[in-house]
Amino acid sequence: MIITDMEDFTDSFVKDVDNGLNDIPKHIPCVYFYDYTGSILFEKICQLPEYYLTQAETEILESQSKRIITTLPDNVMLVELGSGSSVKTRLIIEALLSKSDKLSYSPIDISRKMLHESSISLLERYDNLEIISVAATYEEGLRKLTIFNEQAKLILWLGSSIGNFRPAEASRFLGNIAATMKPEDCLLIGFDLVKEKRILEKAYNDSQNVTAEFNLNLLSRINRELGGEFDLGRFTHQALYNEEERRIEMYLISNCEQNVYISAMNRSYHFGINEMVHTENSCKYSPEAIGKIANRAGLQILEQWFDSRHYFNLTLFKPDNR
Ligand code: AVI
Repeated sequence: MIITDMEDFTDSFVKDVDNGLNDIPKHIPCVYFYDYTGSILFEKICQLPEYYLTQAETEILESQSKRIITTLPDNVMLVELGSGSSVKTRLIIEALLSKSDKLSYSPIDISRKMLHESSISLLERYDNLEIISVAATYEEGLRKLTIFNEQAKLILWLGSSIGNFRPAEASRFLGNIAATMKPEDCLLIGFDLVKEKRILEKAYNDSQNVTAEFNLNLLSRINRELGGEFDLGRFTHQALYNEEERRIEMYLISNCEQNVYISAMNRSYHFGINEMVHTENSCKYSPEAIGKIANRAGLQILEQWFDSRHYFNLTLFKPDNR
């Protein structure tokens, strides 16, 4: 197992928090949710009954993994973006190992500790697995993996993480991935689909308040890493579905008028009563919208699979021949 060095994120964390808290309306990029605590909280979210995304995607993978891999060339290398605990990936790993006697798996994730833990548990489970973990951002990780370019790749991007990009950013990012793909490479993406507002808002305002804890961890992280003085009791989590934009928007709302000092910036930030800090977008897709971003990115849809409720979709792409 190789874990590559990760750049130090502290400088960009300081800059992004400072820019976001000076902006109107205030915002903090969702990439900062995923320190170790945030990654563990996200794994807890995935077990919640209201957070249907994981169950729906697992249902598709359980019933279709064998079918998915029949579309691929032999001896593919498996690459995964934002792998987290890699639990769902096991279904694809098992399907690939049933066809070949060894497999290279390269998870790319921002949390080094999460990569380490999930890699250890996969190595304990599968004898014929080789793991090359990359602790990096997606783009940096994919760049590092070009050294393995002689092997065909299946790139996985599960969990509807694509939804955390705006559609224009998503097609730009997919375009960058498509540009690194060889004709025999494939890309499998999980998309959360547009559905009733009630179901969506319940998934992001769960009854056990795990999503609230996940959202508020952003402020704890600023306290821990940047010397912030946020009082978490003075902020409330809220997730709203924006029907026009087809996305869940997550906010931290200031319960009172307050000034909060952050020592890394050596300054205080003012929050008005009920002022909202936008922390995440989670875009929901229609099959037509998937076709559109694929087209803009230079990708061709090979096949699509849905769960029984049509809540979620897995789409397999290959680079088109433009
Ligand atoms: C990682 N990502 C796909 C999750 C989502 O559903 O947008 C993050 C999340 N935010 C709140 N709950 C889960």
